[in-house]
Amino acid sequence: MPMRTEIPVYHPDLYSASAIRDTYPHYAALRALGPVVWLSKHKVYALPRYAECKQVLLDDDTFVSSGGVGLNPVANRVGQGTTLFSDGDEHARRRSLLAHRLTPRALRTMQDTVDQQAAAVVEAAAARRTVDAVEVATALPMSVVPDLVGWPQQGREHLLRWAGATFDALGPFNRQAVRTLPASLGMMRYARGVVRDRSVLDGSMGHDLLRASDEGRIMPAECVTMMIDYLAPSLDTTISAISSALYLFATHPEQWRLLKADPDLVPKAVNEIVRYESPIRAFSRTAARDTELAGVPLPKGSRVLVLYGSANRDPLEWDDPDTFDIRRDAARQLGFGQGTHGCAGQGLARLETSAMLRALIERVDRIEPTGTPEWSLNNVIHRLERLPLELIPA
Ligand code: HEM
Repeated sequence: MPMRTEIPVYHPDLYSASAIRDTYPHYAALRALGPVVWLSKHKVYALPRYAECKQVLLDDDTFVSSGGVGLNPVANRVGQGTTLFSDGDEHARRRSLLAHRLTPRALRTMQDTVDQQAAAVVEAAAARRTVDAVEVATALPMSVVPDLVGWPQQGREHLLRWAGATFDALGPFNRQAVRTLPASLGMMRYARGVVRDRSVLDGSMGHDLLRASDEGRIMPAECVTMMIDYLAPSLDTTISAISSALYLFATHPEQWRLLKADPDLVPKAVNEIVRYESPIRAFSRTAARDTELAGVPLPKGSRVLVLYGSANRDPLEWDDPDTFDIRRDAARQLGFGQGTHGCAGQGLARLETSAMLRALIERVDRIEPTGTPEWSLNNVIHRLERLPLELIPA
């Protein structure tokens, strides 16, 4: 491929409050500029199109995560020791420690409990009728994941704030990241205490990690980072998917009717929801050597920004990308990442989101908006903050 010497430049701040809340016009502008675009504000190469995002995610020898996947040096240092920020054997070793917890077989043992919890959440919400759907979407992830990870009851009230802050801290060093840094360090401090006091729940992931540390398979400090590794990305992401589902079905009643008429569409609907409103906006990688991408030379050390949310709306990859259609085959969407760092918890996220959809199909006839939705302000997470809806029982 001939080398391009002129790399298009984008000056607007992709992480301003207005760009976070209304991000799709920025993605479209970036995609129109080219496959690799220099973000002058953040000194990083943005990848707005599907093909290059996928290529980078699959080439983890060239585009590494051990330099951090955030956009500022503080977060990229603090996050060292996590699965997310590691490469090669080190990454495989960390990932294998907890893989058995999230296999399809392990998840099947959780299915009944998750289904029952989802049914209870939806039943209570349908009885209230008028709800903030974000609260409804929060209930299931908050009851499933902290138990799985083994977080003690005490301190759970802070989890959501800490987890959101952990994502915020991975953005550029803007006001948002600075404001939330203490909360993200709070989670780290708390996890250290949990490991020190061995106060994890028996039979949980945390318990497995303590045992691995006792047997010398990991360092005690890794127990802390790995607990956070599984807890931090598991709340806002799934809350995002479930609340976006409620939003999308409220605003696309014909799609809701399709789903109600054919509940077998649930797995496809989950992919389409994650494609259409990707819960994670972007993570970065560092070039481990001089390389090129789509004909653009990238010197060793260059940071590239994988825009999952933009790749999932790229018209070069998707027909009518801005149309929400649960009949679409969106299995190749990049919302859960791809390749070696592909989401370790996606089976669980799919289980929770599907359980909520099935519970809604059974108990709710129509979903109607009753007010203006509000999007959260977070550097990395794309999710609703408030979503007033009426659930009209079946
Ligand atoms: C809808 C929900 C979710 C979405 C959209 C999502 C998205 C992602 C994405 C995009 C990545 C890739 C990061 C990269 O490319 O560097 C990732 C990694 C990860 N996710 Fe998720 N996630 C979700 C739910 C969960 C849950 C429920 C858990 C835990 C139980 C979890 C645990 C992880 C972990 C541990 C990694 C790091 C994997 C690695 O680096 O090898 N995620 N997730």
